[in-house]
Amino acid sequence: MTVEQATARRLDGSAAAAEIRERIRPRIEAFTRRAGRAPKLGILLAGSDPGSEIYVRNKMKSSAELGMESDLRRLPETAALGDALEIVAEFNASATHDGILVQSPLPDGMGSDAEQQVFDAIAPGKDVDGFNPANVGRLVQKRPALAPCTPSGIIDLLDREGVEISGARAVVIGRSDIVGKPMAMLLLHRNATVTICHSRTRDLPGVAAEADILVAAIGRAAFVTREFVKPGATVVDVGMNRLDDRAQVEALFGAGSRKLAAFDRRGSVVTGDVHPAVAQVAGALTPVPGGVGPLTIAMLLANTVSAAEGRQALA
Ligand code: GUN
Repeated sequence: MTVEQATARRLDGSAAAAEIRERIRPRIEAFTRRAGRAPKLGILLAGSDPGSEIYVRNKMKSSAELGMESDLRRLPETAALGDALEIVAEFNASATHDGILVQSPLPDGMGSDAEQQVFDAIAPGKDVDGFNPANVGRLVQKRPALAPCTPSGIIDLLDREGVEISGARAVVIGRSDIVGKPMAMLLLHRNATVTICHSRTRDLPGVAAEADILVAAIGRAAFVTREFVKPGATVVDVGMNRLDDRAQVEALFGAGSRKLAAFDRRGSVVTGDVHPAVAQVAGALTPVPGGVGPLTIAMLLANTVSAAEGRQALA
């Protein structure tokens, strides 16, 4: 059996994202009629991280397809934290910017707590990433708030695919503020029994193998191997790792694989945190690409519409 002969059901994030977009389309149209303008997202992209370039391009393209506006501000790699805070202050004060997104990561030169300082500065009502401490607190307290896009999208996908969350054992590998922690909170609010694992977890494969729902958000290519996965489990792969070593791609996916052919065309491929052989063990699995990525973008658009509606209700 080659690693591409999967038994796991493929959880189609692109289809789920398309459904989310169709759900929000009438809300965008209604907002635009009432306000006399489209909802608008202010984006700050500092530096030239290749992954961030792709994310931001896709976010802007999806916004435009739904009739929303986006306003991209760029800063060079050498910019200071103050430059970023100035743009956030302008977006905060603007009457026509409904949502604000500061793409992570910020350049190293801005300092180790730059991201937190920027997220602290974003007006909570415009915080479409849900990273401001006011929104993080509201999420923990299960009060309505703008919630982080990737974890919200994953919950939507699990619901759409009929994966039972209530009573399930859920294991989240990764404790980031962007994915791991909010993911755990949303699963808890849906009555899963949740464990968060990280680099110091003892017997990580053993803990992960207890999961009915396993979320991998580590940022290491093919880290989650077969022994991490209980047969039949639902596995959600949040990883987006670029591989530019042909030998590594061949070792992971096999000599005749589609991934290797894609590598030979493009010189690199993107792969998740989950090893391809997991498809032989898991009951259901999100692909990379085409799994969680499109969901994150759809949820960002949904949060932008919610922020716009919330601001209109207050006006
Ligand atoms: N970088 C990777 N994922 C995200 C995200 O969801 N939001 C922002 N702002 N930056 C990111």
